[in-house]
Amino acid sequence: MSPPAAETQRQEVRRKEETRTGYTYEEYKHSAEWLLSKTEHRPTVAIVCGSGLGGLGELLKDQVAFNYSDIPNFPHSTVPGHAGRLIFGNLNGKPCVCMQGRFHAYEGYPLWKVTFPIRVFHLIGVETVILTNAAGGLNQDYKVGDIMVIMDHINMPGFAGQNPLTGPNEERFGPRFPAMSDAYEKGLRKLALAVGEELGFSEKIREGVYCSLGGPNFETIAECRFLNSLGADAVGMSTVPEVIVARHCGLRVLGMSLITNKAVMDYNSEATANHEEVLQAGKDSAKFLEKLVSRLLQRIELNNNVF
Ligand code: HPA
Repeated sequence: MSPPAAETQRQEVRRKEETRTGYTYEEYKHSAEWLLSKTEHRPTVAIVCGSGLGGLGELLKDQVAFNYSDIPNFPHSTVPGHAGRLIFGNLNGKPCVCMQGRFHAYEGYPLWKVTFPIRVFHLIGVETVILTNAAGGLNQDYKVGDIMVIMDHINMPGFAGQNPLTGPNEERFGPRFPAMSDAYEKGLRKLALAVGEELGFSEKIREGVYCSLGGPNFETIAECRFLNSLGADAVGMSTVPEVIVARHCGLRVLGMSLITNKAVMDYNSEATANHEEVLQAGKDSAKFLEKLVSRLLQRIELNNNVF
């Protein structure tokens, strides 16, 4: 090919990439088949690690790990505190796949890229997704280090038309108009609360409503007051797009937020939220969440009726 023809072809590829509105079914399938060809693990549970919570991935036994950059079609993680590795292994005897690092809209990714791994998980045989995140506590009773089991969410970007299911519906994944009133499975929530109590964390474990915003800036005081008055207990910049796509393709969902900071609600306060504080709180309290997820996995196996 002559140099001008090659340049034209490159421009055409770039133009197509820039105007895409989603992955094709075949692209999801290709990534799933690639992964299945590289490991003998056949996970039924996927765990998504939030900011500073990547330690969960290290708990997996018999690990087979992939850098996101090596997996066909996978986006790359750009946020400090998000390693960018997909780890297959066993947690308490249960075959799992763990995302050490997730994708966010504020990194510049469209939501269909943010949620790409969830459909790949579905295609490799995953049935349950456990999503974790770091969040700011809006509920004034919440303390730094508390764990909130998510009972429901408010999808703020969704109010403005930002939804990962926007565009042509792929029926092979799910229906055009999926329900979201049962997004966070009651049995899993109950199990998480029960396991938290068993581990002696009753004081730390809450159940509440998570509100997602686009970020990357933390919220103003007026925004925090507004979100709290809407019924939100915690606020963050992730999880909801993944939950929507997971429910669309029939996955069971458990969501848990580690409260890493108290949202600033008072004009007399000198406090300001920052990412270092979020990561530090993650370090201090991640062990609780790790224990909780680990024990949950064990109980999930014992509690087939919950599933
Ligand atoms: N706001 C939004 N996202 C967050 C926060 C917060 O206060 N803390 C951790 N992630």
